[in-house]
Amino acid sequence: MKKADYDIIAAYYDKVIGKGYETNDYIRKKINRYNKNVKTVLELGCGTGSNLLHFDKDIAITGIDISVEMLKIAKNKLPGCKFYQQDIRTFSLNKKFDLIICLYDTLNHVLLFSDWKKIFKNADKHLNDKGLFIFDINTLAKLEYISAVSPFMHEFDSNYLIVNVKKIFRNTFNWNLKIFENKRHNMFSLLEQNIKESSFETDKISNELLKYFNIKRIDDENGRKVKYDNERVFFVCQKKW
Ligand SMILES: C[S@@+](CC[C@H](N)C(=O)[O-])C[C@H]1O[C@@H](n2cnc3c(N)ncnc32)[C@H](O)[C@@H]1O
Repeated sequence: MKKADYDIIAAYYDKVIGKGYETNDYIRKKINRYNKNVKTVLELGCGTGSNLLHFDKDIAITGIDISVEMLKIAKNKLPGCKFYQQDIRTFSLNKKFDLIICLYDTLNHVLLFSDWKKIFKNADKHLNDKGLFIFDINTLAKLEYISAVSPFMHEFDSNYLIVNVKKIFRNTFNWNLKIFENKRHNMFSLLEQNIKESSFETDKISNELLKYFNIKRIDDENGRKVKYDNERVFFVCQKKW
């Protein structure tokens, strides 16, 4: 079976992506504000499960991802939770949830807007009444900016990551990741992966979302209203009922 992009870099993902707490705080605030009764959560593209770790123990957690290696790490971190290897473009779980999240630019990995449309429709189908669908995106402004300033290097545990982002089509960018792993005494091995991301204008996304959801907020991770040059934007949507 063909390896998923993240299978190759899964072992490094948590070390390299070192996250702050802004996203967990953000999600908690939105739950408190828009649906305090969240008891079931689904993450689309859950990766190594880091976002799901922060939910209270009485909340039933489900995650789906296309990468078997990312899912293995998630299962180790969250043994009591359900994980499925599925494609978020076509997922089907025969179950409804109070909250669906899709975080850290997972949606950008879906390159065609026609597939974003399918995901929105399908998220609606998998939500209970008043259920929330919260996702973030890397904006076109961010992808344009990073492609202009890259390559850049990041050191972690004596290893090195080199990121080189290049625009390959109007809305689509290639992230070339090179990880030089310090095996011992500065003898390095190289792991290389290309990951593509697309992004679309906020208005175009909102118009599609409005078919299924009430859009409660479009803001940055600090809850501030978005401006034209925001790099990361969150959409907070509530199922119509
Ligand atoms: C940037 S990572 C984010 C992981 C996780 N959401 C987090 O915040 O740490 C993107 C994840 O989306 C997954 N992914 C990308 N395209 C996918 C698809 N079509 N279906 C399911 N998972 C996908 C990747 O395997 C990867 O685990």
